[in-house]
Amino acid sequence: MITVKNVSHDFEIGKKGRATIIPVLRDINFSVNRGEILTIVGRSGSGKSTLLNLISGFIRPREGGIWINEEQVSKLNEAQFADFRIKNLGFIFQSFQLIPSMTAFQNIELPLIIKGMAEKERRDKTEEMLKKVGLSEYQDHYPGELSGGQQQRVSIARALIVNPPIILADEPTGSLDSETEEDLLTFIKQLNQDLGITFLIITHDDKVARIGHRTIELSDGRITEGELV
Ligand SMILES: Nc1ncnc2c1ncn2[C@@H]1O[C@H](COP(=O)(O)OP(=O)(O)OP(=O)(O)O)[C@@H](O)[C@H]1O
Ligand SMILES: [Mg+2]
Repeated sequence: MITVKNVSHDFEIGKKGRATIIPVLRDINFSVNRGEILTIVGRSGSGKSTLLNLISGFIRPREGGIWINEEQVSKLNEAQFADFRIKNLGFIFQSFQLIPSMTAFQNIELPLIIKGMAEKERRDKTEEMLKKVGLSEYQDHYPGELSGGQQQRVSIARALIVNPPIILADEPTGSLDSETEEDLLTFIKQLNQDLGITFLIITHDDKVARIGHRTIELSDGRITEGELV
């Protein structure tokens, strides 16, 4: 479902002429199978978020290629990737990335507006999703009026509302207490089992890593554990 082939990436910082190259990923190869939960662990700075940003198309790899559903996404231009993203990928971020001036309802509804769905259908779907994540009573709250766990559920609802076949998550439980974390992990397992959603989850946390069917570790820009393609 996702294949990462011979991907290397580095960043260039500083001014031209005095630029420093920071190598981050070196010849990364792995794949995520349909219906699988794959977790990626690694120390801070090991390149986990960079890898996720490459798969999400926010940056392009210096070398190698990335395929999602048979499409070589690393070749898409920005507009094509934006279109691909809205159809195929859902995101859960540590910092939630909710829009502070929009209510819970409006945040969850937003991807449907971007998709061009008609208003009535949009409202019904948003209400259904609010119910699913247990937030119907909070639909008119702004993010600043919700707890961390509630904000996290809004961000998950927003990721799920377009029925993405794949969800990419970067430290999804980073800001949660352990009980809310448990709830979220149960929810992810349910979505995986009941709807067959494929998950790629990046984490520092052993508890989160363990929900993966497989776990790979990034270290010094390479994969040091787990299955290689
Ligand atoms: N835009 C950028 N420009 C320059 N260097 C960057 C950029 N983004 C990341 N880096 C560097 O790349 C390396 C990997 O960063 P990355 O964010 O992928 O690590 P990470 O494994 O996600 O760490 P953490 O667990 O702390 O989130 C770091 O050394 C970081 O400083
Ligand atoms: Mg990171």
